[in-house]
Amino acid sequence: MALFKIAVLEGDGIGPEVVSAALKVLYRIGELAGHHFETEKGLIGGSAIDEKGTPLPEETIKLCLEADAVLLGAVGGPKWDHLPTEERPERGLLGIRKALDLYANLRPAKVYEPLIEASPLKREVVRGTDMVVVRELTGDVYYGEPRGIFTQDGKRVGINTMRYTEDEIRRVVRKAFQIANLRRKKLTSVDKSNVLEVSALWRQIVEEESKNFPEVELEHLYVDNCAMQIVRRPSSFDVIVTGNIFGDILSDEAAVITGSLGMLPSASLGDRYALYEPVHGSAPDIAGKGVANPIATILSVALMLRYSFGLIREADLLERAVEVTLEKGYRTPDIYTEGTIKVGTEGMTQAVIQTLEELWS
Ligand code: NAD
Ligand code: IPM
Ligand code: MN
Repeated sequence: MALFKIAVLEGDGIGPEVVSAALKVLYRIGELAGHHFETEKGLIGGSAIDEKGTPLPEETIKLCLEADAVLLGAVGGPKWDHLPTEERPERGLLGIRKALDLYANLRPAKVYEPLIEASPLKREVVRGTDMVVVRELTGDVYYGEPRGIFTQDGKRVGINTMRYTEDEIRRVVRKAFQIANLRRKKLTSVDKSNVLEVSALWRQIVEEESKNFPEVELEHLYVDNCAMQIVRRPSSFDVIVTGNIFGDILSDEAAVITGSLGMLPSASLGDRYALYEPVHGSAPDIAGKGVANPIATILSVALMLRYSFGLIREADLLERAVEVTLEKGYRTPDIYTEGTIKVGTEGMTQAVIQTLEELWS
């Protein structure tokens, strides 16, 4: 029996609700397939601030470094919004991404046919959409120095620094080419090279790397145009590669056209470690109500099975189980449309488990 060690960081808001749902699914897969998933919880974000006085305690980093993979819920919430930027829950998330050197964040956005009515776009526009946003995750304006709020001539000035080294760009771009090569062989690189030097360098590196992948069709888009094309022709995208801040924004946009932010999983990969988390946040507006959509986190577990554990069959079956559950009509409120079956977090989780059992046999 294979043993896999998973560090579980529930975080705040709906984080614990969606993580507990996804773990139920994972344990059932363990029973069905004969694997042992050993989980250990660690604190991160606001709950870590409350208990330990810091959003990323040392023992959490240690736990993650010793695990085979990390599963994370979400961090943040109004309770901690008054804190200065460097003490906020979100710093915990940025810290763990950096500590594990998770430079490539894969955010697949796929339209499920049964959910087509839940998309804010017309069905003929959105049908067939299946893209992956590869977002650089450990550089850019998120980490660049200098940063801070300073005083100059008696007035406050806020400063952040957009910064990428050649190597930081190259490693994530290479990963994106590799992913595109295994899919429909189309890569869209997104930048703002008409204005920013960082982006001009980004584009140079992408061009250099493309020579190693002659069979991948390459397109460059400026980020403003890309934001527009994602709603105009979403199904034309295969893999999008971009920097940290542009990727943050474009992946929420890509997510919602599939029906809901509550559907989108992600894998944050480095050369040694990996962390899996939904793209959505802690959703304070619905936390504690038992209505959060657990699918983004359940699909993040599928990515973990595939990328960290090499359990391809299990991952495929889990993704199929989610699709069939949607075909059966189960919907959390965020994806509900008339004539479907409205369920909460627990109802959706049980429906996925039930479908998984049916598909397994
Ligand atoms: P959010 O993603 O938490 O919520 C945006 C909207 O989407 C809300 O209306 C919410 O109810 C809905 N939503 C999100 N996930 C859902 C789900 N699973 N099911 C149903 N509906 C869902 O973004 P926000 O409101 O901008 O941020 C709230 C907090 O979360 C902030 O503190 C922010 O910093 C944090 N945040 C954390 C992460 C993360 O941990 N990875 C990501 C984004 C935001
Ligand atoms: C995300 C979030 C985070 C980010 C925040 C909460 C730090 O929006 O994971 O998309 O900006 O990376
Ligand atoms: Mn985001």
